[in-house]
Amino acid sequence: MIGKHEWSVTNRQPSLKGRVALVTGGNSGLGFEVACGLATRGARLLLPVRSAARGEAALAALQARCPGAEAELLTLNLASLDSIATCATEVAHRTSRLDFLVNNAGVMALARRQETADGFEMQFGTNHLGHFALTTRLRSLLEAASGGGTVVTVASLAACKGAIHFDDLQSRRRYSPFGAYQQSKLSNLLFARELARRAGENGWNIHSRAAHPGWSSTSIIANGPASSLPGAVGKAEQVIGTAVLRVMGQSAARGAEPLLYAALSPAARDGDYYGPQGTGERRGPPGPAKVPPAAQKISTAARLWDVSERLTGVAW
Ligand SMILES: NC(=O)c1ccc[n+]([C@@H]2O[C@H](COP(=O)([O-])OP(=O)(O)OC[C@H]3O[C@@H](n4cnc5c(N)ncnc54)[C@H](OP(=O)(O)O)[C@@H]3O)[C@@H](O)[C@H]2O)c1
Repeated sequence: MIGKHEWSVTNRQPSLKGRVALVTGGNSGLGFEVACGLATRGARLLLPVRSAARGEAALAALQARCPGAEAELLTLNLASLDSIATCATEVAHRTSRLDFLVNNAGVMALARRQETADGFEMQFGTNHLGHFALTTRLRSLLEAASGGGTVVTVASLAACKGAIHFDDLQSRRRYSPFGAYQQSKLSNLLFARELARRAGENGWNIHSRAAHPGWSSTSIIANGPASSLPGAVGKAEQVIGTAVLRVMGQSAARGAEPLLYAALSPAARDGDYYGPQGTGERRGPPGPAKVPPAAQKISTAARLWDVSERLTGVAW
């Protein structure tokens, strides 16, 4: 097994000089750490963000951490199919191939049901449908990469408790903040595995793996449940939730290691899932993760793929 230090973000191997990587959500938390890990190894980074100010701040922090990092910002709101289309066109102007795509951005457990610009439930729409549309639109650039581009899609331990409610994918009849998050993360896992299966069957020049960070100390509570709860309740949720992640989980840098492992380890296999190796997969060095039974059903994955094509209007 690969030792834990081999995948720390400060390790410089393998060299990614001349390779191009796109990381969604690269301005914060795990995405920022993955970006650092790829930049440290010499990759050229494309970082699509929805806030120019947060993007600039992240670029400055990236340069401070990895002097000489080659990174540029683009605009992307995964909660808008138009924005995704525009971003994919812009990516094609900036590069003729994409070696790595890390589908990392996400939002968790919004207290009230919200919708994307296209009327999808916000978590399913952003975390799954947004990344489905983005990956599909970047397909030709991924296939142009030497040896095939690698797509890493970030799921979560929350996928274990998830179900795909095909009769109410947008949670219109019944909305539960964590239920919608679980569905979106199970969808991430099903998509990663189905992409690998279809790529293998059809000879697409693409690799696909899934990864989860265990419990990692990031802004996910502040950006999710805390941001959507009123005043003092939101503040309490943020303080308690963030403390739980810090005490029971691990740093964002350690949480990023399974994502880097899925992208870079020679031991990583298409269709497989990677996460921390400690108790309950909440923390620890990276390695194989348990695939929950709900994510093993090819019929569910194939149905979700078809529905995702129909909903986004973007087809492989
Ligand atoms: N932290 C954990 O313990 C944990 C556990 C399991 C899985 N995960 C997964 O890890 C991924 C990264 O989360 P994190 O913990 O690093 O949280 P984070 O610090 O809140 O980062 C989330 C990132 O996603 C971006 N984002 C959210 N909505 C977006 C949209 N509509 N368009 C474009 N970008 C958007 C955010 O951009 P802004 O800065 O503009 O908001 C931010 O860069 C998520 O997929 C999450 O589900 C995290």
